[in-house]
Amino acid sequence: MPKTDVAVLVGSLRQGSFNKMMARALARLAPDTLVLSPVEMGDMPLYNEDLEADPPAPWGRFRRAIAAAGALLFVTPENNRSIPAVLKNAVDVGSRPWGKSVWNGKPAAVISVSPGALGGFGANHHLRQSLTGVNVPVMPCPEAYIGGAAKLFDADGELVDTAAIAFATEFMREFAAWIEQQRPR
Ligand code: FNR
Repeated sequence: MPKTDVAVLVGSLRQGSFNKMMARALARLAPDTLVLSPVEMGDMPLYNEDLEADPPAPWGRFRRAIAAAGALLFVTPENNRSIPAVLKNAVDVGSRPWGKSVWNGKPAAVISVSPGALGGFGANHHLRQSLTGVNVPVMPCPEAYIGGAAKLFDADGELVDTAAIAFATEFMREFAAWIEQQRPR
């Protein structure tokens, strides 16, 4: 199978983020046909169409990174039953200028991670709604709502829970298959 560069978008900016820990674990457990690279989003000014006349450098860097990727992996916490502002801003920045969206047609997967019991279900589905709007085909199943995150990682931030490791491995295997399925023929 050909290799695919996967842009990883983590919706948390904080150092000790469970979502960042999960993103690192997914990179480690992914089939070797997937090459995962995190994409910085925290330095991007809030989307403002007036700035398109002279777009901020972080917007350009972000748009180029997404345009160069063959697939997208979103790893997100839930903020007040929706996606964090940093991630929504990234979706908006990537979708403009009109007709030049960098998202169009790129296969994606979404995984939400929370210390709470619901596993970020609300964020997961709000993100899917926005991704539908920018024509990103999101893998429907397996769905991934990872709850109780505080119990899954050790002090070094390694994913150590056996069931979570097995699920994450299967999730990435299915994602690789989804990417192949979406490849233009
Ligand atoms: C949260 N948190 C949270 N958790 C959840 O399961 N559902 C929610 O709606 C919210 N809402 C929410 C709002 C705001 C503003 C914050 C700061 C936090 C808790 C959240 O899941 C927790 O802080 C996670 O640890 C954040 O993810 P990272 O940073 O660990 O990846």
